[in-house]
Amino acid sequence: MKRNIKDLVKQMTLEEKASLCSGLDFWHTKPVDRLGIPSVMVSDGPAGLRKQDDKGDHLGINDSIKAVCFPSGCLTACSFDPDLLEKEGATIGDECLAEDVSVILGPALNIKRSPLCGRNFEYFSEDPYLAGEISAAYVKGVQSKNVGTSIKHFAVNSQEFRRMSCSSNVDERTIREIYFPAFEKTVKEGKPDTVMCSYNRINGVFASENKWLLTDVLRKEWGFDGYVVSDWGAVNKRVEGLAAGLDLEMPASGGTTDRQIVEAVKSGKLKEAVLDKTVERILRIVYKYKDGKTEGNFDKEAHHNLVAEIAKESMVLLKNEKNILPLKEKDAESILFVGAFAKTPRYEGGGSAHINTWKVTSALEAAKVAGLKVNYVQGFDIAEKKDKKLLPEAIEASKKAKTVVIFAGLPDSYESEGYDRKDMKMPLNQDILISEIAKVNKNVVVVLHNGSPVEMPWAKDVKAILESYLAGESVGTAQIDLLFGKANPSGKLAETFPVKTSDNPTFINFPGNGHDVNYAEGMYIGYRYYDKKEMEVLFPFGHGLSYTTFEYSNLKLSSKKILDTEKLEVSVKVTNTGKVFGKEVVQLYVTEKTGTHEDRPVKELKAFAKVALNPKESKVVTMTLDKRSFAFWNVELHDWYAPTGEYEILVGSSSRDIRLTAKVEVTSTAKGVFKINENTVLEELLEHPVAAKCAEPLVKKFMSGMLGEGRSEAEKAAVSDDMMMAMLYSMPLRALRSFLQMKDEEIAKFIEDTNKELSKY
Ligand code: BGC
Repeated sequence: MKRNIKDLVKQMTLEEKASLCSGLDFWHTKPVDRLGIPSVMVSDGPAGLRKQDDKGDHLGINDSIKAVCFPSGCLTACSFDPDLLEKEGATIGDECLAEDVSVILGPALNIKRSPLCGRNFEYFSEDPYLAGEISAAYVKGVQSKNVGTSIKHFAVNSQEFRRMSCSSNVDERTIREIYFPAFEKTVKEGKPDTVMCSYNRINGVFASENKWLLTDVLRKEWGFDGYVVSDWGAVNKRVEGLAAGLDLEMPASGGTTDRQIVEAVKSGKLKEAVLDKTVERILRIVYKYKDGKTEGNFDKEAHHNLVAEIAKESMVLLKNEKNILPLKEKDAESILFVGAFAKTPRYEGGGSAHINTWKVTSALEAAKVAGLKVNYVQGFDIAEKKDKKLLPEAIEASKKAKTVVIFAGLPDSYESEGYDRKDMKMPLNQDILISEIAKVNKNVVVVLHNGSPVEMPWAKDVKAILESYLAGESVGTAQIDLLFGKANPSGKLAETFPVKTSDNPTFINFPGNGHDVNYAEGMYIGYRYYDKKEMEVLFPFGHGLSYTTFEYSNLKLSSKKILDTEKLEVSVKVTNTGKVFGKEVVQLYVTEKTGTHEDRPVKELKAFAKVALNPKESKVVTMTLDKRSFAFWNVELHDWYAPTGEYEILVGSSSRDIRLTAKVEVTSTAKGVFKINENTVLEELLEHPVAAKCAEPLVKKFMSGMLGEGRSEAEKAAVSDDMMMAMLYSMPLRALRSFLQMKDEEIAKFIEDTNKELSKY
């Protein structure tokens, strides 16, 4: 049905329009009965449905309907599989339809700046490219069912400490290169119906009233055409927010802010046309849902199985010495499972992402279903209550077992929405348990349950580590299938695991003093930092093992030279050289080698592809690069810019396992990028072919004056030619007045003529 929304808005009174700008209650938009405008529901998200009862009659304030719990974002990102995320999104979209939820509040795609952010379990990655690919796919999936998404929390919201008031202070280039791209990609490709603005301030201005953020960048630059909703309680000044581009305030404001809007229009402080646009945007999404609503499907059992599938594709095998994994089914009776998480797994995070899960399958249950008669002892208390019996019992049992699988990780209280972690340590009782068992048994496997990286002081002492993250309700099924080789691990880390907390780049500037947090590390977060510092890490970004091996060969580029307006195809042959079926995530990183003085990370992920291979099978994987793959954000141009010169293409199995490299020459088509002024130094002139040509006569004169024949040996001993050259190179043009006795007018003329020439290139 084609609706004329503009017409509808025209029929509304000022009060009715203002009323639509805030929620009816916690979860609904307001209706306008007079005009038949319906109220619709929104719900959290994103790892399944957290639908609270609107009337609040039979559910507690934080309770929600029984639903399917999907893996958290920290795990799904490790799948490196956008198709899988699209499937997950479509399934959750179906559930929303069945429960009449118009918008699911997610995905959450903030960048994991520090491993300590309490909400990292919800977020995808430390890498903006990966986060964007995963998020856009999820959004496409949900919205294929005509249910909206609300990508959150826009923007630069990478900590929980004082999240509602703290200012994230970050420079332009870092925002553009690290904190925006995942949102940008999702807006441009996923076309989410709504965007949720974050609580925090950005460089002093609340996201909820930041015109640059919500209007200039989001709508004008990226073309977002849905509505912006505030994070729950993120509104500071309602009228300013509306003018900046914030459409819907959630939850209800008790009518106070609606009245403020009415008054602002009446007093002329706010143009009614701005309000009309907001109402139009909200109504368009409300009716998009209502008019296209179908029945949906909430087949919990089928979705439970999908959760297992997603988890299997995403869990990361961090270590597997001597191929201790996969375990053999026939050995089951000599295998000991240790750890409370084998029976009561930690499979989801807390806060607004928390699902009231209808059914959970633990590893012990899954083993039972598979007919595996493994032994079990509890080993530790999740709540860290002192218990004198658990540890000795586990050690004794471990002595008798052939293999010990320890199910360990972070308890709920260690990471959650609302607060950050203090460090990356696991509970001491668990660290001790693992170390002590490793002393009495040589075959120890650790299976982890955590939403963010942990220190592993025992990593060298155990044979294998399987990272399950927070795997959703079918966690046990996925673990058993992977441990016993019914499935082959293919997840790769979407974040670096540093050796210890203090290694991480934000250690000094996280979480700030409560008023401000300075993103002083700039773009150097995650592997961008560890690579630059050549630091040892516990497990690198992109790392993940398989039960088979892959060989990379035949790296080919579609061209050796491209313009920045052209695309580059990169293909590589991948062969499964092992004995079992497996999937490999081929990762492509780009390194700038143009020789400019621009600060660039050692390498950055610019493409990836997941490929499935039978033993001995080969496939050619093709990935496409474009200008953005080579560019950095140039703060003078306020635009992406790929300097002319050489770039290296690195293809590999992790950020620290690069198998093949190739070179490509990129030519920039940007014009007038380089401009000189009186403070441009000689070296900058000489580095630029056009400027160098213009400066030839001047440089000659300069050189002969300063380095000419006339210099005595004594002069040269005091100031060598090399020193002289270094000084010359850093001399600004204005210094020609003192050293070449040039007149100011002559210098100005040179600058003008050179800039004229430069503007052609
Ligand atoms: C969270 C959002 C969530 C909202 C509604 C806020 O506290 O930051 O992610 O969607 O509450 O529950």
